[in-house]
Amino acid sequence: MAREFDMDRRAYLKTVGVAGATTALAGCSGGEDTQVIVPGTSAGFPPFEFTEDGELVGFDITLAEEVVTRAGYELGEWSDISFESLIPSLLDGDIDLVAAGMTINESRQESIDFSDPYWESNQSVLVQEDSDFQPGSVDDLGDARVGAQAGTTGEGEAETLVADGTIAGDALRRYDNYTLAVQDLENGNVDAVIIDQPVATTFSSDRAVAVAFIIETGEEFGMGVRPDDDRLGDLNGALAEVKDDGTYDDLVTEWFE
Ligand code: ARG
Repeated sequence: MAREFDMDRRAYLKTVGVAGATTALAGCSGGEDTQVIVPGTSAGFPPFEFTEDGELVGFDITLAEEVVTRAGYELGEWSDISFESLIPSLLDGDIDLVAAGMTINESRQESIDFSDPYWESNQSVLVQEDSDFQPGSVDDLGDARVGAQAGTTGEGEAETLVADGTIAGDALRRYDNYTLAVQDLENGNVDAVIIDQPVATTFSSDRAVAVAFIIETGEEFGMGVRPDDDRLGDLNGALAEVKDDGTYDDLVTEWFE
């Protein structure tokens, strides 16, 4: 009996040992969980992320690549999904990193963690360039139909305007992406679009839309990770390096000037 027990115990330890060794090996040889960081974004947000000749490009795309590889990880295949799906996909493990001009805020911080900030932004109100409708502040929005991308802080601003009675409840139009919202603005299906200021500037440079006024929100963009992801320290270290050594400024020149 005693001998039999010893045999079982040895067999058990052997199994654990093998499993342990396998885990360790996966860690050193590029096992998906430890070394590859799968990024997710939501295109149609130029110049942060957009498609050009069928290719996903932009400031966030290059920055994430730079930060992840400098931190010693491999960047996986980009997932380009709706903005609203980014946090659920991150929490489900379909992606490991959100790089989508995402504003760091408390409600998001209840479910995910953010890198150190890498951009500052306010919201802009975009209108048709040649329209008679040129509001100077939210108080001029009156009966305007106001569009924003679903799940964004711009949508949040529009919801606040509904809540305080500045615009009507049925005046708010939600879009899957900002490109569609701006198209609807050009077509006259919506009168104003609330959108992050740098993106508004980009749209106004090549479409018949213009920034009517700014809503000072003082937002900061960060990259999102799961709260239990211990790679965040490495990513922040790499981000600091990228800012310090001039790479960041080069990216700003490349995508914003
Ligand atoms: N900064 C805003 C937010 O966090 C909008 C971000 C939209 N990003 C995008 N890739 N479409 O809600």
